[in-house]
Parts: sequence; C-alpha cells; structure tokens
Amino acid sequence: MNGFKIVPQIECYEDAPSFVEANPFCEDDFILISKSVYEHDFKAIIQVGKVFFRSKYGQGEPNSDMVNALIRDFLDSGCKRIIAVGGGSVMDMAKLLCVCESGFDCQYLFDHQDELKHNYPLILVPTTCGSGSEVSNISIVEMLNMKTKLGLAKDPLYADKAILIPSLLNSVPDFYLYTSAVDGLVHAIESYLSARSNVYTRLFQEKAIRLYINNFLQLQQGVDRAQLMESFMVASNMAGLSFANTGTGCVHGISYPLSGTYHVTHGLANSIFLAEVLKMYERLRPEEVLNDLKQLVADCLGCEVKDAFEKLDQLIRFIVEVPTLSSLGMKEEEIVTFSESVVLNQQRLMSNGYVNLNKEQIQEIYKTLF
Ligand SMILES: [Fe+2]
Repeated sequence: MNGFKIVPQIECYEDAPSFVEANPFCEDDFILISKSVYEHDFKAIIQVGKVFFRSKYGQGEPNSDMVNALIRDFLDSGCKRIIAVGGGSVMDMAKLLCVCESGFDCQYLFDHQDELKHNYPLILVPTTCGSGSEVSNISIVEMLNMKTKLGLAKDPLYADKAILIPSLLNSVPDFYLYTSAVDGLVHAIESYLSARSNVYTRLFQEKAIRLYINNFLQLQQGVDRAQLMESFMVASNMAGLSFANTGTGCVHGISYPLSGTYHVTHGLANSIFLAEVLKMYERLRPEEVLNDLKQLVADCLGCEVKDAFEKLDQLIRFIVEVPTLSSLGMKEEEIVTFSESVVLNQQRLMSNGYVNLNKEQIQEIYKTLF
C-alpha cells in the first residue's frame, strides 16, 4: 500500500482575532497577504511583523518573475518565519520562500529540487476553498521562459501549520469562490482516480466529493452561500490532504498551457476540462475505479449511474459559467501545440491520470471545447 501522511498541524479558528491570539505574531515575521483580506480581517489586529501585499508582485497566478521579486524581498527582510494569508497563489509563493537561501531564485529551486531544505517555519492560512495548498507540498509556478506552468513537489515545501478560518471566505467574490471550489472538487476526483490512492486517502476523497457536490446542489436550490463556508473550507482541506498524498492528473495537466498562455485562472481552467476528461476516461477504460467514482457521484446527485458525469457537468455549468476555449483567445493551431506541450512538460501529472492520455486524445479534448 502507498503511504499516507498529514504533515502540517491543522488548526481551526472562528475568526482572524482568535487565530492571532493563539499564534502571536513576532517582529521577524514575514507576512505575505492579499490586500483585500488584510483590510477586511487583519489590519486592526496585526501589530508586529513585516507585511507584504501579494499585489506588489503582480496580478494573476505566480510566475517566475513574481517569485524572484518575492524571494529578494524575503531574503532582504531578514525575517525568520513566514505567514501567508490568501488563495492558492499566495500560499504557493510562500512555500518557495521557506526553502530559500541567499542567492536562490526560482529557476535554481526547480533545478536543484532534490537539495532543498525547510529553512524557515511556515504558517499557511487559506482564504479560498479549493487549492488545498495549505496541506500539500506542491508549488505551481508559470515559468515565463517555457510559457507553461510547472509544479515543484518536494517535502521541504510542507507548511508547519495549516490554519482554517471559514469566516475568511465571506469576503471572496462569487467567481473566485466557485471556481476555486470546482478546483477543489477536481483535486478530490483526480486523487480518487490516482493509482496511488489507498484506503486512507479514500476517506478524505469521498468525503470531499460528497461535501462539494452537496454544497453545489444547495447553491442550486438557493441556499445562501454564507451558510456553506465551513463545509467548503473543510472540503477544500480534505481534497488537499487527498492530492497531497496521491497527486492530481490529466485535468490539471491539460489545463496548464491554457492558463499559462492566456492567464485563465486555475479554477476556471479546471472547470472547463473536468467533464471532458472524465467522459474520455469513460470511453477508454470504463471499469474498475471509474465505476466506483460514477456510483459515488450518482449517489450524491440522486441520478442514474450512467448519467453521473453528464449531470455533474450540468451542475458545474450552473455553478461556473464555462467559456469556450476560443472565446478565451486560444488559437486553433494551439490545439496541436498545447497538446505537444502537455505531453512534453506535464508527465508528472499525466502519468498519474486514470489513463495517460496521448497527444491525439488531448487534441480531441481541446477540439471539443474549442
Ligand atoms: Fe488545482
């Protein structure tokens, strides 16, 4: 059996003041935080430490230039502990800091990933409900020289503490809340289908899938999102624990060239590809664990097993407005070049898929969604 581990200590708090009271900030804390969350929840309670706003490093998801600027600020600050409060991008960037030493930059981290050491204590506080980054050892960066995203997945990147504060989700705009939630559902599903799953990961995968689908159904029935924040936060964390142990798969791999080239948010990109990848798996290998997944999804949705993926697709399209690839700016010739990039650069993810999709199969998915 593959192993199972939970590295960060997970702590839950009702609100930001209770978290800060239990974890007093220090003078030499490097606090990387989204400005909106700082203004809304932390401005009045952070008395010490050096605050750096995520927006200082640019918009969108982390790229190599942004990471390099952040690393320079961190090393210049002389800080001894890192506290990151924000979405997956903020946490992914902060994880890279905890393995830095003088002279390091983003490229160096990727080129010397087996030599990295956990040099600084790291506390991660998520403010979205999908990345699960607070409990994984993975950091995703868009490498500008390669025009795609790459993942650095090494144990020294694990945080020391993961802090869950559901009330921080209240101020997240609908678009980010819902696309990050679909990303979390993709984590749980891709983890479920991974060959590295075992009886322990199954507990977290199943629970996360049930929580997400149930929350989406409640939203569809008109339930106020404020009532679902705790459930979304727990689902995200459990999906994170799942993929931290198994990795993700083809949905993530196929989405990276699109989000890397056209700056489509990670959650939206995954929302676009999930259903088509599942339908292709269904055609290529309609047995074993895929049937278990379909039964689980059908059970959550109250539909027939044969309709599970179609109904899930419809539910996701209710939660998130899923655009065509061409409307996002993708060019027809990129159906081929993106597929080649996936096969070339994303084998870490593709080989962990339920089927390691080949170039032609990836092209077919892009074409269908074009
Ligand atoms: Fe993801």
